[in-house]
Amino acid sequence: MNPVTHEDLVKIKEEVNSKVSKNWISVGLSTCGIAAGAQDTFFALKNEARLRKLPFEVRRSGCAGVCAQEPLVVVAAEGMPVVTYGKLTKDKVKRLFDEHIIGKKVLSDLALNTHDPKQMRIVLRNCGEIDPESIRDYVARDGYFALSKVLKGYTPEQVNEEMKVSGLRGRGGAGFPTGIKWEITRKVEADQKYIICNGDEGDPGAYMDRGVLEGDPHSVIEGLAIGGYGIGATRGFFYIRAEYPLAIERIEKALKQAYLYGLLGKNILGSGFSFDIEIRLGAGAFVCGEETALIASIEGRRGYPHPRPPYPSVKGLWGKPTCINNVETLANIPVIFLKGGPWFAGIGHEKSKGTKVFALTGKVEKSGLVEVPMGTTLREIVFDIGGGAAKGKKVKAIQTGGPSGGVIPSEHFDTPVSYENLQKLGSIMGSGGMIVMDEDDSMVDIAKFYLGFCVDESCGKCAPCRIGGKQMLGYLEKITEGRGEPEDLDKLRKISHTMQKASLCGLGQTAPNPVLSTLRYFENEYKEKMAHKAVAAS
Ligand SMILES: Cc1cc2nc3c(=O)[nH]c(=O)nc-3n(C[C@H](O)[C@H](O)[C@H](O)COP(=O)(O)O)c2cc1C
Repeated sequence: MNPVTHEDLVKIKEEVNSKVSKNWISVGLSTCGIAAGAQDTFFALKNEARLRKLPFEVRRSGCAGVCAQEPLVVVAAEGMPVVTYGKLTKDKVKRLFDEHIIGKKVLSDLALNTHDPKQMRIVLRNCGEIDPESIRDYVARDGYFALSKVLKGYTPEQVNEEMKVSGLRGRGGAGFPTGIKWEITRKVEADQKYIICNGDEGDPGAYMDRGVLEGDPHSVIEGLAIGGYGIGATRGFFYIRAEYPLAIERIEKALKQAYLYGLLGKNILGSGFSFDIEIRLGAGAFVCGEETALIASIEGRRGYPHPRPPYPSVKGLWGKPTCINNVETLANIPVIFLKGGPWFAGIGHEKSKGTKVFALTGKVEKSGLVEVPMGTTLREIVFDIGGGAAKGKKVKAIQTGGPSGGVIPSEHFDTPVSYENLQKLGSIMGSGGMIVMDEDDSMVDIAKFYLGFCVDESCGKCAPCRIGGKQMLGYLEKITEGRGEPEDLDKLRKISHTMQKASLCGLGQTAPNPVLSTLRYFENEYKEKMAHKAVAAS
């Protein structure tokens, strides 16, 4: 196949959009859907359409975010409104054909209202909408038009400028401005530069990046290619955790298609810009998501972090300037260039621009992936979108930012979401995990869980993290087993501060956060556990 031109992209878009059939059924086939039986539903739907000799195209899509309702099926039948059905397991397929397709009646007990006015989909714009394994589907929704626009009309300096105007900040945790990171890397002179997509996603409860990689892989590839052009890199890497086999498979397929279309490789869209992407797998160590450890891992060394500076932007992969960006960060890029930096900067709250995807899980009625403009309050996310606590319980707090974050009690839920606001509350935005806890949850147990995770995942290279984490865990075990003493709380605080100041990387520096935030808001729960000891002894 000849490499495509911009005109070819326009033609493909017109062709795909003009051929959309009036009768189709799409099934969410991402990890969450497959786990709920969506693959069986998919084959049952195909089989039923064939047996009944009905001209229905049964297609695959990614995760639409409504994970609690999987298997999710969208049905478009001539003369009927497009309807989304939840929990459509294979045993309900015959009924769907009898009642909806033949009987022209909506199955009201299974139909969902998926339109949520509080949500805004930039990152998840195509997830659940297109077949993630079809580059033509992606092109039909303006895919690769941003790359074409950039290569035709922007210098790398202008790319950096547009990104700075957009105000996009890294979604991998630290919230560093993406445009500035790109500019720093561009300005370093070197014969070779690299850009890496960080798809290691190790926070417990977080699966935003998996959703995007599985549901819209080309958007991340396009973002990575634009980033490569913007910093002067000719090689890019996906670093994806090996526990995400479907994400890896979909990225592999998408890369093959992008090469086939000439949207990767030499002289992309006739611009003279050449860019190659390879995949590397992370093998299950949380610390390998930290950028310096990630680089060591790609180089084939043990995934140990090293002190910064030098930052990867100056001295990264194989000693060359390297920019590392998170999956969600990159998925924003094509839209920023299609609609403009000022458009993006117009969405959000103060210094936090655009939207944020959260994996809303835990004791919440409607768990799933939600994407909201920055500035949406925590209450709107947990109650209006998430439906509040499951089983009629009371929401006590949420945990954001994973093992580096903290808990936020419900009395602070009117806070608008922003990097700064969450930090003021003693937590962080992190990568987007948001776990809801109800009245039955013990905050001391929550702190112990996260600290235990960090102790397990500590690489052991630096003493503050290796020893401090273990000591803290020892105190938490003592307290939860009813052996705690009042001075243990001071000891926990002291070790926390040492770890924050002296640890080598973000893992050790932030590991005490869940303990400190639970102590800040729920010290009474620690004291109650200690009081048990006093009662038992008397
Ligand atoms: C222990 C640890 C684990 C991390 N894991 C991830 C990860 O899985 N994905 C990610 O994007 N960033 C992770 N980060 C942050 C990265 O080091 C880096 O800041 C980020 O990938 C930069 O991308 P961004 O600027 O687009 O946010 C981790 C940091 C630490 C300290």
